[in-house]
Amino acid sequence: MTVEAITLRSFTDLSDVRETLVGLYTAVRAELLHLPNYKLSTFAERLDRHGAEPGWESVIAYEYGEAVGYAYANTIEPGNRWWSRLISPPPNIYTSGPVVAIKEIGVVQKRRGQGVAQRIHDDLLESRAEPYATLCVNGAAGGGKVQELYERWGYVTIGRQEPLSPDAPQLTCMGRSVSQRFQNR
Ligand SMILES: CC(C)(COP(=O)(O)OP(=O)(O)OC[C@H]1O[C@@H](n2cnc3c(N)ncnc32)[C@H](O)[C@@H]1OP(=O)(O)O)[C@@H](O)C(=O)NCCC(=O)NCCS
Repeated sequence: MTVEAITLRSFTDLSDVRETLVGLYTAVRAELLHLPNYKLSTFAERLDRHGAEPGWESVIAYEYGEAVGYAYANTIEPGNRWWSRLISPPPNIYTSGPVVAIKEIGVVQKRRGQGVAQRIHDDLLESRAEPYATLCVNGAAGGGKVQELYERWGYVTIGRQEPLSPDAPQLTCMGRSVSQRFQNR
């Protein structure tokens, strides 16, 4: 496969892609599904909630019709729980207006390490009106490699999030400007 074989499609109505997203999550997180925080039912509940919240959008990567990666995002308004969960306040530029929060990103194992996640990420930001983007990462994921990847995409740490449940890890909250995407190419 070359990355050129990948096509990206954007969706704003969850009902069009719910089944595809649940299938992708199941494949991407296969090794973690037994953990309470990664249970399929937990993901599905979160997805349904996020799909009904403002600015929901998903980009799905297809390879000859087979879905191989995904990301989805929502608009976060000032005062949103995304910010109130942080242990200390993030820079004012993030909290004073709407930003886009990337809530999930994943690529199936066989297509990792080929730049697919970055293509999905950049495509998702391309159409967004919000000036800033934010995402959360478990700093320990992949031995720190996932956070390093986001740093390569231009994200900087803007706060730490209280674990959402006793089973959940503490997450690092990161942010960058949306237009910075042009510097990645
Ligand atoms: C994180 C993820 C989306 C990256 O997708 P990708 O298409 O492989 O990303 P890219 O090809 O753009 O970048 C690959 C880089 O990711 C890094 N990386 C990401 N996750 C990694 C992991 N778990 N272990 C090792 N390296 C990892 C590597 O450094 C790699 O760089 P290299 O090719 O120089 O070694 C993908 O690894 C994935 O789906 N992981 C499981 C789900 C997940 O962790 N999602 C993020 C939750 S915050």
